[in-house]
Amino acid sequence: MMTKWSPNSWRDKPISQVPAYPDAAALAETERQLASYPPLVFAGEARKLKKQLATVSAGEAFMLQGGDCAESFAEHGADNIRDFFRVFLQMAVVLTFGGAQPVVKVGRIAGQFAKPRSSDTETKDGVALPSYRGDIINGIEFTEEARTPNPARQRMAYRQSAATLNLLRAFAQGGYASLENVHKWMLGFVSDSPQSERYKVLANRITETVDFMNAVGITSESHAALRETDFYTSHEALLLGYEEAMTRVDSTSGDWYATSGHMIWIGDRTRQPDHAHVEYCRGIKNPLGLKCGPSMTPDGLIRLIDLLNPENEAGRLTLISRFGSEAVGDHLPKLIRAVQKEDRKVVWSCDPMHGNTITAAGYKTRPFDRILKEVQSFFDVHAAEGTHAGGIHIEMTGKNVTECTGGARAVRDEDLQDRYHTHCDPRLNADQALELAFLVSELLAKKKHGQASRQAVNA
Ligand code: TRP
Ligand code: MN
Repeated sequence: MMTKWSPNSWRDKPISQVPAYPDAAALAETERQLASYPPLVFAGEARKLKKQLATVSAGEAFMLQGGDCAESFAEHGADNIRDFFRVFLQMAVVLTFGGAQPVVKVGRIAGQFAKPRSSDTETKDGVALPSYRGDIINGIEFTEEARTPNPARQRMAYRQSAATLNLLRAFAQGGYASLENVHKWMLGFVSDSPQSERYKVLANRITETVDFMNAVGITSESHAALRETDFYTSHEALLLGYEEAMTRVDSTSGDWYATSGHMIWIGDRTRQPDHAHVEYCRGIKNPLGLKCGPSMTPDGLIRLIDLLNPENEAGRLTLISRFGSEAVGDHLPKLIRAVQKEDRKVVWSCDPMHGNTITAAGYKTRPFDRILKEVQSFFDVHAAEGTHAGGIHIEMTGKNVTECTGGARAVRDEDLQDRYHTHCDPRLNADQALELAFLVSELLAKKKHGQASRQAVNA
């Protein structure tokens, strides 16, 4: 039998990836303050996202989830948020058009601050200091002061999340995301971008369609669907003291919700079924993500689904696979078959970033062709198993960084030093992100046409 859950029941379980705060009283005081702050999101929004994800699990929509590996305090500004959002909208529109299906839009943003680390300490020139765990915990500079976990950073992360979310809501609902602006999302993009021509062609077709609709009386004033979009936030629920402080009862349903973001996920390193992170997540009603790496077994997966989605509710659970481009075929089919056999409703999403990290020229990087290959294999496996390749989960930025190698405007190993800005893992730059969206839109279109011709044959 399952033990009783409460927002702090995770505290009785084994836990990993915990920062060593030197001042327990200051930490407790911060958590107490956070618990008195307004929620960042409202339970009704999380329920709406869950409904939309249910349509993805039914094969009727596609999920786009993406953003920074780790948000940082230093890079918090309107330009960064706008540049991210503009590329994200471009990707979404490319996918919506190619797949002729709705795209559920979820940012890795407005709360994505805490990072799991493989080692508790980092040693440089004989000096060992605590590892950097994300701006919500400590600073990235290699000094004793910066690396000592500081609870005040949690308040800063909360405030940054609130400000980021506020601007994103304004963009999503206030006119910026209107389909009448498809061309404007392109501005600022360097004009010689290899993807820009292709994007302009698509934007022209959309503009033509919108003009036609306007002519017949369907306008952005009369139809919110043309003018607005639903954009949701997500992050890894790693720092459980912060998450607990942001956990609130929804007065309309009496259920507990994480109000730090619409969707939260469990990382591949903290998904032990009897440990703290799974314990926390099982009790909240938000949509959940679960990262599945090569060590996930079919039985282990079913056990986790039993814990995280006991009522087999569609849209509750998204399985985010991250195997590496060469290993998808070895791992994914077994997991899909186990889930199908037990008739569990899930969204299948592909994280093509985390299994494809290598070191080149002294930098942690990811070759773009391996990222594409993992996505392609993910679609191939789902086609073979008869299941829905439901989404992608990527690390990306709207900036022209040089962190992942390759792409149409090839970033070479020796270019990595030019604009390598990430606080953690290498991200797709704006060009690469859009190129990936075009590739996925082709895969979605192919699937659609394949289905159409099969129906024609059956008819
Ligand atoms: N409301 C629709 C949607 O969100 C159409 C739409 C409006 C849209 N703005 C968008 C789609 C921007 C993609 C990008 O899907
Ligand atoms: Mn990462």
